[in-house]
Amino acid sequence: MKLLPTILHRRTYVIVTFMITLPMLLFAWINTYNAGKLLMLEKEKQLTAIVNELQFNLQYPYDTILAQEGALQSLPAQKREVLHKRIQPIVNALAKKYPGYGIGCYHPEFKIVAMEPDNPDSIGAELPSSALQVYRDKSVVVHEMVKKIEHGGVPLLVMDYPLFSRGELTGHVWANTLNDINREIYVTVGRNLAVIFLSWLAIIAVIRWFFSKIDRSLAEFAYQVESDEIHAERLHEFPQLVAILEIISSLRQTIKKEYDQKEKINLELAKLDRLELISQMAAGVAHEIRNPMTVVMGYIQRMSQQVEQNRKIPCNLMLEELKRIDGIISDFLSLARNKPMGLSKQQINTIISGIYPLIHADAASKNIAIHLRLDASLIELECNKKEITQLILNLCRNSIEAMEDRGQLVIATLNKKSNIELLIEDTGYGISPEKIEKIFDPFFTTKENCTGLGLAVCRGIVKRHGGIMKIESIEGKGTTCIVKFPVKR
Ligand SMILES: Nc1ncnc2c1ncn2[C@@H]1O[C@H](COP(=O)(O)OP(=O)(O)O)[C@@H](O)[C@H]1O
Ligand SMILES: [Mg+2]
Repeated sequence: MKLLPTILHRRTYVIVTFMITLPMLLFAWINTYNAGKLLMLEKEKQLTAIVNELQFNLQYPYDTILAQEGALQSLPAQKREVLHKRIQPIVNALAKKYPGYGIGCYHPEFKIVAMEPDNPDSIGAELPSSALQVYRDKSVVVHEMVKKIEHGGVPLLVMDYPLFSRGELTGHVWANTLNDINREIYVTVGRNLAVIFLSWLAIIAVIRWFFSKIDRSLAEFAYQVESDEIHAERLHEFPQLVAILEIISSLRQTIKKEYDQKEKINLELAKLDRLELISQMAAGVAHEIRNPMTVVMGYIQRMSQQVEQNRKIPCNLMLEELKRIDGIISDFLSLARNKPMGLSKQQINTIISGIYPLIHADAASKNIAIHLRLDASLIELECNKKEITQLILNLCRNSIEAMEDRGQLVIATLNKKSNIELLIEDTGYGISPEKIEKIFDPFFTTKENCTGLGLAVCRGIVKRHGGIMKIESIEGKGTTCIVKFPVKR
């Protein structure tokens, strides 16, 4: 049996993904938006710091520098050269301090006088018109500029700072970012998305791990249910499953017990049906055999009286054998009967005393002692005397047949409150547990030359008298047969 609750798994993954990803994406979006704004502010702050520092480091206005260098009367190109020499080292030092930023100084007449990153062609070059806005506004200007590169351009943030000398705008300094400002924002967004993705992965991994534990436990549970085994240690993570297993196991046992019982009853019923059929057939056949046999027996009896002495023996032998057959037929007929016939009030003790000589003769030949323990208070029983006699004889004979020399046979009667008990006990070889189930079956015998009908007949007799009989035996020790007849007082 395989349990795969995949629907539950899939649903959980989807729910968790939605629950985690949506708020996180929202958070990331807000975060990214703010991050962009913050980045711009940060950049502007940095640019302000740079241009302020540059302006401070210049110390003197352009004219003062030219005057200091004695170049006031020089040609414009020479003047630019003088300024470049003085200012470029200052710009260089500052650029070193602020990596990632471009810095420069501009003079309206000499154009670019110093610039970092350094480029020999740029000194004296003109700035794009957007960079000259500062001369119209006469105040700090922050703007975006596109730096042309091989394919397309990169947006940069630029700050232009006007330089004044005695109230006159004499030039400006600038600072700009060197890298694509948008790229930095994208990197921030990317980083946020990566964090979201990794968190999602981590959570899904945890859930998967958790589910795999549940799956494994469920599979183990299913296996244990199927194999009807309980290994609590393999389900230590879900002790509730062990409790369920125990309930299932006890239910299974109950069902099995009931099933076995039902099977046994069914077998018993089938056997009874068969017995019923056999006994009816036997009764029919026996009856048909008995009639002609009685005639034959009569003739042989008459013949034996008339023949000579030396022919008497075979006649008597024939009579003996015919009597034996008659006995078996009587047993058959007795088996088929189900209602007691010829009832009269009898003292069982008296019946026992009546057949005692017969039993004694049998027992004496095997050196077996008989102990009679007859209850004197025994009341009379409404019964068929012939049948009860046969019952006692059959039981006693079985006992005697089961004993060797010096055996002990007890015949006892007991007057109980609601029944009369008859007890036949012997010290014979006993009956094994496998055989004791079959001893009441007709024709079951363990002896040679016996019919196996004795106990079947006994049970029939007891049943017809409304009584019960049971046989208890210990192999090698002996057997006790208990018969109980109900009595009305
Ligand atoms: N008292 C007993 N001790 C040992 N075995 C017995 C005793 N009574 C009955 N049995 C067993 O039960 C079987 C059936 O008995 P029964 O129906 O009287 O048939 P039979 O005596 O013809 O064999 C016997 O063959 C014997 O194995
Ligand atoms: Mg017998």
